[in-house]
Amino acid sequence: MTTLNVRVWRGNEDGEFVSYEVPRHASQTVLDVVTYIQRNLEPDLGYRFACRVGMCGSCAMTVNGKARWTCRTHVSKVVENNALEIAPLSNMPVIKDLAADMTTFFDKWSAAKGQFKGNQTRHDEFATVEPGSPERQAVDAGIECIGCGVCYASCDVVTWRPDYLGPAALNRAWTLVNDVRDVRGAERLRAVAGDAGCHSCHTQGSCTERCPKQLAPTAGIAGLKRKVAKAAIKGEL
Ligand code: SF4
Ligand code: SF4
Ligand code: FES
Repeated sequence: MTTLNVRVWRGNEDGEFVSYEVPRHASQTVLDVVTYIQRNLEPDLGYRFACRVGMCGSCAMTVNGKARWTCRTHVSKVVENNALEIAPLSNMPVIKDLAADMTTFFDKWSAAKGQFKGNQTRHDEFATVEPGSPERQAVDAGIECIGCGVCYASCDVVTWRPDYLGPAALNRAWTLVNDVRDVRGAERLRAVAGDAGCHSCHTQGSCTERCPKQLAPTAGIAGLKRKVAKAAIKGEL
């Protein structure tokens, strides 16, 4: 049986890589490898997953240097010389081993006013949003985010300036800016217009290249820049 040589980050920020040998199987995912190590070799290995089918966003890790969702990443796609190196996501503190602390990541969604706020009551008719409208299409292009943090961990600007809101929070803000039922438009544009907001993005696109859901935060951030500029010219900010 072929074995994989797997280096896994153990400990917190000051930890180190530890090597394991893991049997190789057909259709094996990176999450399968981590789970094998936890169940057979290191019962106290810390890592996170829930759905195993690409829905919950909790299993992202750094695999051979790149952030990826591990439950939908086949070993055959990323293995190099029969070896894998698995570490926690970058740009986040390490809780333990492969589990990164996503608190700041989600706090930034809140800072970007990432919560929907409408003004209808349950007694009103359902709001209809035309599927073909430009606003609805802009929302549709970004709404499937699963909050995995892959884009955030791949963003150099987050590394350089940790207060930058980052691609996921700004992508969320973009979907809400285009939601015709939402009433927080100006407030949200003010939240993303500051130094740590959309204007810090250098548009290089690592977020868009790595997003496992094929979303394009870069495009949404460019849209936010345009909306902020228009609102500023009209004196709405
Ligand atoms: S395009 Fe912007 S948000 Fe995306 S990785 Fe680059 S700097 Fe970060
Ligand atoms: S935009 Fe993509 S990479 Fe970023 S958190 Fe959402 S699903 Fe993950
Ligand atoms: S375990 Fe849910 S997305 Fe991977």
